[in-house]
Amino acid sequence: MQIRGRNLELLIPEAQIKEKVKEIAEKINQDFEGEEILAVCILKGAFIFFSDLVRELKGKVYIDFMQVSSYKTEMESFGEVIFIKEMSEDIKDRNVLLIDDIIDTGRTLKALVEALSLRNPRKLKTAVLLDKKERREVDYEADYTGFVIPDKFVVGYGLDWAEEGRTLKDIYMVV
Ligand code: HPA
Ligand code: MG
Repeated sequence: MQIRGRNLELLIPEAQIKEKVKEIAEKINQDFEGEEILAVCILKGAFIFFSDLVRELKGKVYIDFMQVSSYKTEMESFGEVIFIKEMSEDIKDRNVLLIDDIIDTGRTLKALVEALSLRNPRKLKTAVLLDKKERREVDYEADYTGFVIPDKFVVGYGLDWAEEGRTLKDIYMVV
């Protein structure tokens, strides 16, 4: 298979993703037993992971969506987030679970957590499907992590390469 003239190499097949989503959901269900969750999808990349994960969550689950972009200051040493699409729910005193597709430098997710903490949620946790740990530039780990992957560009299961490849069922490396 190819995207934009480059070959794709299978990294994580659909069946393994499904298993992992269930594993992550089990942990979240234990941690939030008897509590409501506001699950927030970080668009666009997380939309499929989000859809699969929220359907494995027990109890009352509310959903919302936001889109952010990373922003580097002149010094390039501080990660900042720009809100491209703001969520519609008020998160004050609520249990918020941010769901993202991938963490690499950690700057965006860390900055997003810091920004949303100012709104005084009751709990604020993060779940990511993929983690390129080799690329981390700040001290931040998601609360729930699916797969640690090598520092290779990946597509599929919501992740894109210039907006292509999001609907592939498996996750592929661009080689
Ligand atoms: N693929 C798609 N989107 C991404 C990646 C990747 O490897 N890393 C960060 N965003
Ligand atoms: Mg992208």
